[in-house]
Amino acid sequence: MRRGDRRLIRLLNGIAIALTLSWTIDCNLIGLPLAVLQAQEKSGVSVPPNKALLRVLLPKDAQLEIGGEKTQSTGEERLFLTPELEPGKTYFYVLKLINPNGFRQVRMRAVEFQAGQEVVVDLRPGKDTASSEIIFVPTSEEVVLKMLEVAKVTKDDIVYDLGCGDGRIVVLAAKKFGARGVGVDIDPDRVKEANEKVRKEGVEKLVEIRLGDALNVPDISRATVVTLYMLPEFNRKVRPILERELKPGARVVSHDFEVPDWKPDSVITVSEQGGFRDHVIYLYTIRPRGKSD
Ligand SMILES: C[S@@+](CC[C@H](N)C(=O)[O-])C[C@H]1O[C@@H](n2cnc3c(N)ncnc32)[C@H](O)[C@@H]1O
Repeated sequence: MRRGDRRLIRLLNGIAIALTLSWTIDCNLIGLPLAVLQAQEKSGVSVPPNKALLRVLLPKDAQLEIGGEKTQSTGEERLFLTPELEPGKTYFYVLKLINPNGFRQVRMRAVEFQAGQEVVVDLRPGKDTASSEIIFVPTSEEVVLKMLEVAKVTKDDIVYDLGCGDGRIVVLAAKKFGARGVGVDIDPDRVKEANEKVRKEGVEKLVEIRLGDALNVPDISRATVVTLYMLPEFNRKVRPILERELKPGARVVSHDFEVPDWKPDSVITVSEQGGFRDHVIYLYTIRPRGKSD
């Protein structure tokens, strides 16, 4: 490949990344108020062409947050009208359901929509198979450091933490190794905390935190290292995405939970000082297509 071609490819990559970033920012409706429709308005609602209607089905005593804001309406069916939207553009809200006494107490789902659409979101127990129930349990600093060392992270890496919590993994990767990082979390509270940590630690130039579903990260193929501290069900779902999108040589490091059906390069146990239990780190490397061992 000629030097000019390489320069062109770098330029195109840069444009693609910029487009992806602006997509993420534009389409996150966090903080924009929703209009709540009253019970008597619920039947026969027609969706205005420049807004979307969310019809949420859930247990009647469940609390619901949309886009990081607590909603006040109650009942088993709740309707919300979005602010005005640009036609043809895809937006999303994260819905967070808090079931006061229930089994599966907190669940979160990113819901996508466009202007003019009515979207039914079924969060009822037994019907909801799409929401995430994985809550924030931080990885200790000692284990984070080990994960990054095991993956041999350097300043040339781009680390994606899928389900980044308070952002500690990507922040440490940037501070200690100079790596760039993207943290994705579905919980608006975590995204806020992670952004605060990024600012406090002064790594804004290297680290980006995004709100969204980690199973739907449009530019995951940029990652040279992916870190996970997620439950087996998530790892099962993310596996084909990583197999399809990551480049050969990319490393995947998972805390405590294996990626089903992958063979780790190494499995390391960390006995934390003063911790109550051992932690396990699984390291995987993406092989060239068609090659596995
Ligand atoms: C166990 S914590 C791990 C946090 C961080 N990676 C660490 O190791 O300290 C899991 C995080 O994943 C987030 N999460 C759960 N499901 C998610 C999803 N589908 N997409 C993005 N984040 C998700 C939760 O909000 C939580 O912050």
